Amino acid sequence: MSAKLKHIAFIMDGNGRWATKRGLPRSAGHKKGAEVLQEIVKTAADMEIPCLTFYAFSTENWHRDKAEVDYLMNLLRQYLHSELKEIKERGARIRFIGERDMLDSDIVAQMNNIEAETAANEKFTLCIALSYGSRAEIVHAAKMMAASVASGKIQISDINENTFASQLYTAGIPDPDLVIRTSGEQRISNYLLWQIAYSEFYFSKTLWPDFSAKEFKEIIDDFNTRERRYGKL
Ligand code: IPE
Ligand code: IPE
Ligand code: MG
Repeated sequence: MSAKLKHIAFIMDGNGRWATKRGLPRSAGHKKGAEVLQEIVKTAADMEIPCLTFYAFSTENWHRDKAEVDYLMNLLRQYLHSELKEIKERGARIRFIGERDMLDSDIVAQMNNIEAETAANEKFTLCIALSYGSRAEIVHAAKMMAASVASGKIQISDINENTFASQLYTAGIPDPDLVIRTSGEQRISNYLLWQIAYSEFYFSKTLWPDFSAKEFKEIIDDFNTRERRYGKL
């Protein structure tokens, strides 16, 4: 593995299409997608990739049918309750980014518990974007900075890229080196807009439920051939 690869961010897309293609309800795609998530986290942990972020549910996803949202929230409850245990035991620090006040209180309580329980873990960080929208995150950070100025805690001149980033939900997490989106869509869908300023992108045509450890490793090989110049010569 390349020493420079510190953080990979995933947009797990295509669950619904995977199910529809098979004549199954969209929920079947989400169920299979959660299994693939688990497999990829384990593969990345074995490869000692220090940080992973997965886009699990966007602020815009709240506008889907109630039945699909309810299914996803129940799947999440199950994931938080069982699957994450295995990840915790592997020494992961687990963090959640997103708008918590839109989630049910029992889910938020579980999220808070998991974050507290794993806060001292250092082996790798698993970050789950849940009810997440990047514009909302940036507005939230701007409000936090404005409040600090208004209360006299900081001066306007103290606002810079570093202090601003420290108010984002991702504070302390390195920016993604690589963003992988499955399902053939080539867009960002309100994901980590600030953090991906210099990320590399890989768009795979594979639908997320068909994504595999093998393809993941091939993508990392591709990443390792890229030259990142950051505007320099
Ligand atoms: C990604 O799959 C999972 C979520 C957004 C929750 P989709 O549900 O977006 O599946 P497609 O894109 O409709 O196939
Ligand atoms: C992005 O996928 C959000 C997640 C993967 C959770 P969407 O399927 O919601 O995005 P669009 O609608 O194709 O942009
Ligand atoms: Mg989609």
